[in-house]
Amino acid sequence: MSNRVFSSNLTSMPVFNFDRVINRFNTDSVRWDKYDSNVIPLWVADMDFASPPCIVDALKERMNHEIFGYSHSPEGLKQDIVAYLQDQFNWQIEPDWIVFVPSLVSSLYSLANNITSPKAHILTLQPVYHHILNAAKNSGRDYSAISLTNTDYRLALNPEAILRSAKSNSELIYFCNPHNPGGTVYSFDELSQIAKACEQENLIICSDEIHCGMVYPGKKHIPIASVSEYAAERTITLMSMNKTFNIPGAGLAWFICKNNDLRKKASKDLGTTIPDPQIFTYIATRSALQHGEPWRHQLMDYLEGNRQLLSDAMKNLPQLSLYKMEASYLGWISCQNLNVEDPSQLFLKSGVALQPGAMFQQNDHVRINIATPKTILNEALDRMRLALSAM
Ligand SMILES: Cc1ncc(COP(=O)(O)O)c(C=O)c1O
Repeated sequence: MSNRVFSSNLTSMPVFNFDRVINRFNTDSVRWDKYDSNVIPLWVADMDFASPPCIVDALKERMNHEIFGYSHSPEGLKQDIVAYLQDQFNWQIEPDWIVFVPSLVSSLYSLANNITSPKAHILTLQPVYHHILNAAKNSGRDYSAISLTNTDYRLALNPEAILRSAKSNSELIYFCNPHNPGGTVYSFDELSQIAKACEQENLIICSDEIHCGMVYPGKKHIPIASVSEYAAERTITLMSMNKTFNIPGAGLAWFICKNNDLRKKASKDLGTTIPDPQIFTYIATRSALQHGEPWRHQLMDYLEGNRQLLSDAMKNLPQLSLYKMEASYLGWISCQNLNVEDPSQLFLKSGVALQPGAMFQQNDHVRINIATPKTILNEALDRMRLALSAM
């Protein structure tokens, strides 16, 4: 713990090169293998940047041992998470509240079954990361998807809508902060109002906060579990270092739940149908928590530059509207004015693969992943311009 790099201690940082173009073909990349090599794939949410050297070195060191047997979580890893959350978000939790899971997505689904009764009604959101909708859809429970309110191209959950959509048997609400798609970062006031509405309806909150490490200057991430006593007792917070440090292929996730009974219920299926996390996931995550902060700072500087490139490009394309990107690298773009059935196809014809809005229940939108070197992003934005000028 003594050599841990905290956010307040970032002097004499090494410089990391986010401009380096790394060929990802023939690496079994989901993102890069889907299309021909002449297409720039800016769809799935991983980054084209090398993971921090501290993570690569830690994995290499473990590899050198040459035995990869069954393993448990390293001693002290929960303490590292506690320290990280205190340092980053001023959120005080206990190590016992943390439960490790192999992926955040599997927990989105298992929680619906494990913490609600079969007759429950579940609230989810739209537009939202497809697994957050599908977890409610596939649960066998009744569910409603609350449409987020669009205020000046900022999407947010309106607490009134929770009250309007809840039923007498509503037991659980899914929440996403920072939100995917769009990148909304909720303020303390917004979170307090949402938590209050959840309290009024006696809802458990399942809060997906996987993008919390990539908040742009001027905003800050506040875990909803930290805004009130009710929220602390009734929230299951899902987190991971996967997105921030670009390790989803070697990543770990966890949920945090203060309430013992709820935590026990939520933990059902772990170690059986949901496998235990693997050894490399622990190593990568621990290194990110302990030594990743200098890299994360420079990542955010670089992404901020890319966000600027994107928003400048959008200003010259009045047919498109970019939502406020307060966090992360996933730009959400309305193409409503184009009046085409599937705008992603239009851009694909010009050599850019964007995530079709249909994945988020909005066919006339696309999502762009800007976590790529500037040379690639600039070329993709040029191709998007070309696609529109050829219409
Ligand atoms: C909101 C959200 N939750 C979860 C995930 C995936 O988490 P994991 O890969 O740890 O299962 C993503 C990936 O894009 C995401 O955007």
